[in-house]
Amino acid sequence: MGDNSKITAAVLASGGGSNAENILRHARTRAGGVEIPLVICDKAGAPVIGRAEKLGADCKVIERTGTKAEHEAAIIAALEEYGIEWIFLAGYMAILSPAFVALYKNRIVNIHPSLLPQFPGKDGYGDAFRAGVITSGVTLHYVDAGVDTGPVIAQKTFPREEGDTLETFRARGMQLEYELYREFIDSLAKRAAA
Ligand code: GRF
Repeated sequence: MGDNSKITAAVLASGGGSNAENILRHARTRAGGVEIPLVICDKAGAPVIGRAEKLGADCKVIERTGTKAEHEAAIIAALEEYGIEWIFLAGYMAILSPAFVALYKNRIVNIHPSLLPQFPGKDGYGDAFRAGVITSGVTLHYVDAGVDTGPVIAQKTFPREEGDTLETFRARGMQLEYELYREFIDSLAKRAAA
């Protein structure tokens, strides 16, 4: 793993990439600790690709062709090429296989847009909003072999406010997603420095 004073991570993303951008910016503005040289995206043309490149990270587009095992083997090869120890999922829309999760046990982190265990799955904000919750939230958690079931690292809550649309509700939650990842990166950097 090379230099023990820094941690090397990759971001896996499929879409817009606002979390990826937040993660890259935060890691870059810190005085060392966590380095993120690589973003992997499984969707050609996704906005996250340009965002990552603007921030100086390499972005590899590894599309889902062939079997899941072949796709994951290509991802693992890229991770190994860059000496990646930690994986930050940021709107990555594929489910990782148990074999992949075992390879990076307790070193894969995901941001989920609900207060898990409530509203797992693809549309946390939409599901929470339509259910009429008064308080919602976001969860940073380790990834295990289940879907949105791994050990919780931290959660933050936010209120549904009068007049909220799904868009305003989501926007409030997204700010907390960014905070959770920034705080986690800070704690990893401290760990590396210890
Ligand atoms: C976020 O809400 C994240 O919690 C969910 O997917 C969304 C990704 O947004 N898993 P972005 O691509 O980071 O803007």
